[in-house]
Amino acid sequence: MRGGGVGAAGGGETRWEERVQRAAHPVAYPAVRALRRRPVARIPRVGLVVSDAAIAREVLLDVEHFSKVGPGSPSELWTPILGPSVLLNMEGAEHAAMRRALGPIFAPRAVRELVRDREVVGARGAGSRGQASGGALPEMVARLDAGEAVDLAGVVAAQAGAVICRLVGLSPTDAAVRDSMAAAQAVTGMVRLHRRRLTTSQVVHARRVLGGLTASAREAYRVGDESTVPGRMRGLGLSEHEAMGAVGAFVLTGTETIQSFVPRLLAIAHDTGWMERLLGVDGGVGEPGPGVEASRRGLRHRVVEEALRVTVPSPAMLRSVRADTVVGGQRVRAGDRVVIATVNCCRAVGEFDPDRPADPDVRHLWFGAGPHFCLGMPLAMAQVEAVLDALAPLAATGRRMVVGRRRPAHGVLVPAYRRLWVTLAPEGPGDAW
Ligand code: HEM
Repeated sequence: MRGGGVGAAGGGETRWEERVQRAAHPVAYPAVRALRRRPVARIPRVGLVVSDAAIAREVLLDVEHFSKVGPGSPSELWTPILGPSVLLNMEGAEHAAMRRALGPIFAPRAVRELVRDREVVGARGAGSRGQASGGALPEMVARLDAGEAVDLAGVVAAQAGAVICRLVGLSPTDAAVRDSMAAAQAVTGMVRLHRRRLTTSQVVHARRVLGGLTASAREAYRVGDESTVPGRMRGLGLSEHEAMGAVGAFVLTGTETIQSFVPRLLAIAHDTGWMERLLGVDGGVGEPGPGVEASRRGLRHRVVEEALRVTVPSPAMLRSVRADTVVGGQRVRAGDRVVIATVNCCRAVGEFDPDRPADPDVRHLWFGAGPHFCLGMPLAMAQVEAVLDALAPLAATGRRMVVGRRRPAHGVLVPAYRRLWVTLAPEGPGDAW
């Protein structure tokens, strides 16, 4: 099927996305969406909610008046667990210096190494180089190729767990991957949108869980082996304390977002008829060659960006007001809280449509803007690319990637599918199930 942009196909995408969002936040999500036509709205006990992309960008770039440190900011949540200097609760010259120091961890080659699977195996039908042996993506490819249904949410969780293992300097064995994911989820699962802080017992528990995870990171740092991320951080001049904070921050910010996004991307591509173009089967025009490959990659990139825009895996950003000022015509005072409803800002443009020209105010707002712009974006994109690169050869064999049963996750911080089953169907109309 080659569905167009929004049209009739857009309905399915919207319905499932609504279910995913409401399963995670049955009260907060409808409340935030109800504000979507108001550029700014003052909500008692919450703060000034911004739903307009241009105003959101102004706030994020204005470091004189807005901060991630202070009352109502994310530092209230994370500092008790991670300590005071972990990027997302830092500002100014110190923050910029730490970002610069961490830059090489997210260089293209370094992120490819972080997402590298244990052994890359091609699809049988697409000319394989052997049997899948270990690694979430090769196993997924082998099972799909054999006609089995695969839970993509589980695969991406395992992939994210393997990345955590590499970040903390652990070898990604199955048990280590499972334990790392469980630890990360145990901590993020405590956070609730309506609560500004964790309780004392939650903080104690979170520190214990993260302490277990970073124990290996500490050891890798002390050994100084530069083939590990903590060892490389030491080589880059970070103190042990800074390196452990950064590792903790990466695990907490980078795990659920990616686990949320990839299954939703595939679900949206399925629901809107963009799957073939996402997987590079349909889109490159002309004789095979570098030009066609570039055009396919460009099309894939547009589908991914548009899916990021409509899913907004990190649905809100918080800032504390540093000094009195005006936001979208409303006065705010030092100590007030500004809640950027990124989900409203990004989705105001309309339903999923990769053919729509990008709106400059909205572009990449799902990764933030200004000095705190997502440091892990290259890693996130490499993880997405790794899944799509694994699936593309299967799609090239003429079979269609079909999304089957799915179940949204309840009670999670980042909206996601708990299960999303995919299978390969022979070329032809209609879904497999
Ligand atoms: C699709 C996936 C992701 C999305 C949508 C996303 C989104 C964001 C957003 C919106 C911010 C800015 C928050 C603010 O200004 O308040 C941010 C910051 C950050 N992200 Fe991501 N993120 C993703 C994946 C990752 C990954 C994989 C990592 C990996 C390590 C990561 C690490 C970080 C860090 C360290 C920061 C804080 C940067 C700073 O404060 O200087 N993110 N992310």
